[in-house]
Amino acid sequence: MSIVYLNGDFIPLEEAKISVLDRGFTFGDGVYEMIPVFSGKVFRLPEHVKRLQASLAAISLSLDYDNEKWHSLVNELSGLNNIKEDSAVYIQVTRGTGERNHLYQADFTPTVFIMFRPLPATNFAAGVSAVLHEDIRWKYCHIKAVTLLPNVLLKHYAKEKDGSHEAILSRDGYITEGAASNVFMVRNNTVITPPKDGRLLPGITRDLIVELLRESGYECREVQITEAELSGADEIWITSATVGIAPIVKIDGKQVGNGKPGPVWRAVNGLYQAFKTLPGE
Ligand code: PDD
Repeated sequence: MSIVYLNGDFIPLEEAKISVLDRGFTFGDGVYEMIPVFSGKVFRLPEHVKRLQASLAAISLSLDYDNEKWHSLVNELSGLNNIKEDSAVYIQVTRGTGERNHLYQADFTPTVFIMFRPLPATNFAAGVSAVLHEDIRWKYCHIKAVTLLPNVLLKHYAKEKDGSHEAILSRDGYITEGAASNVFMVRNNTVITPPKDGRLLPGITRDLIVELLRESGYECREVQITEAELSGADEIWITSATVGIAPIVKIDGKQVGNGKPGPVWRAVNGLYQAFKTLPGE
């Protein structure tokens, strides 16, 4: 039975209950984090906590949990669940419970929920397919908000259209990110990913990949990518806590490069897999 954290208590998942007037339920008024755990080790926890604090600040949700408290809660919950395998930590904070009214009061008590979930075993070595779609989301995509209806519809569209794994999004002709991932492309050995702004989530995996690429001498540019540039790419990848780095071998039914995962993906995926096993990471 899995133990979760809810508002100060460690309790079985089945006993964790919140009000139907919680603003996460009525308005999607909250933020979240998804943190991968590799062989029982919570990966890049400080980076995820930093992004969580930034999301909370961006929606003016004040919560008196400092970084140390987040770290100790996640570690305690990991111990209680005896986590030894690959899994993921899900953290959700909503603005709390109150009469349904768009306006919120400063004295609401936030709802804080943490759970560990299994990380689905995936093997992307052969590559996956994607579809292109207009980015129908709002303009504050740097906030990891629980309001994910557009992302849900886009993911579903990708699956329904041709069994694709991801929808790659473009706004005004420029690629932003995937419905639940960041996007990279390779052209003539140069790696390109869109810059971090309100159009996309600053992915923790994305940042690590940029770091690993630069450390090993690859040119990695954070600049805009047009749809035309993407369709001429030698390689395309998507990155996230749950997929790692997945090569996209087909977009809208058309082959990317030679239709196989490319050499730069193989190299960077090797670096990423090695990094995951470093002590202290
Ligand atoms: N989502 N962009 C979006 C819109 C995402 O939802 C995600 C991850 C990412 C990648 O960020 P990171 O590398 O920090 O996982 C980019 C998680 C996995 C989710 O919603 O489940």
